[in-house]
Amino acid sequence: MNHYTKIKDISNLAETIKEAILLKMNPNEYSTLGKHKTLVMLFFNASLRTRLSTEKAAKNLGMEVMVLNVNDAWQLEFEDGAIMNANTSEHIKEAARVISQYADIIAVRAFPSLTDKQKDESEFVLNSFLKYATVPIINMESATAHPLQALADAITITELSNKPKPKVVLSWAPHPKALPQAVANSFVEMMQFMEVDFRITHPKGYELNPEITKNTPINYNQTDALKEADFVYVKNWSNYNDYGKILNQDPKWMMTKAKLGAAKFMHCLPVRRNVVVEDAVLDGDNSVVMSQANNRTYAAQIILKKILERQ
Ligand code: CP
Repeated sequence: MNHYTKIKDISNLAETIKEAILLKMNPNEYSTLGKHKTLVMLFFNASLRTRLSTEKAAKNLGMEVMVLNVNDAWQLEFEDGAIMNANTSEHIKEAARVISQYADIIAVRAFPSLTDKQKDESEFVLNSFLKYATVPIINMESATAHPLQALADAITITELSNKPKPKVVLSWAPHPKALPQAVANSFVEMMQFMEVDFRITHPKGYELNPEITKNTPINYNQTDALKEADFVYVKNWSNYNDYGKILNQDPKWMMTKAKLGAAKFMHCLPVRRNVVVEDAVLDGDNSVVMSQANNRTYAAQIILKKILERQ
């Protein structure tokens, strides 16, 4: 694997999930693979899970890890040909090449603005690192995708499913803040690659990018969509068509124990209790959010392993 910026960078998904589950059984098996190699993690935005699980994964492989909160560094310019006489102090052309001299792999987290759809969809931060860095790039959640989270979710479903083709539902939830579509996008793409009966439920008008959802069934009736579900992935996203807007905060879309039934509850975390999901679900036996968070380590580790094996 050269880079991991999107799910399609995985050449054999089923095999990769199997390998990640094996790594989980023996996380230190390849503890010298990354010896004398350095992972530099760049955060343009906050993180708890991604930061710690990716660092743990790298250390399990024997790597050194350096973390930079980019807001503590010089403000970066991404525009080609920019006259840099305002706030930006350093161009990505220099920054990416400089960081590449300190890193064997660079991982980047850069959320969307949610105000400029075209710019967000250009993935200019991630793609600038791909263009100007001279080492492999890992996406730790970009404007439109969170492929490490989706891989952890796929591992979790594979581990916990007792059916050849479980029913999986992605259910939109209300939220007081405008959130990106990235987690939902990557989960949809991941489910399209897996042997699952997958559908999406959300209020009318909350359609995700149709280039991502493709033919995935969408049901505007949440009760109907949840019937006989095995896994329910709950997630808010802000409006895609009226880009970045909050047009609905209907608490009826919150996940409750009654609605969940016997299904397993999934969420990437962090989650707002009693807004997105009620306490009884998160504190109940059907919640698998801790397994998802744990699997973030092995998702990151299998990706780092595959990249290191190419170096
Ligand atoms: N799920 C996830 O990416 O969590 P963090 O934002 O805390 O990294």
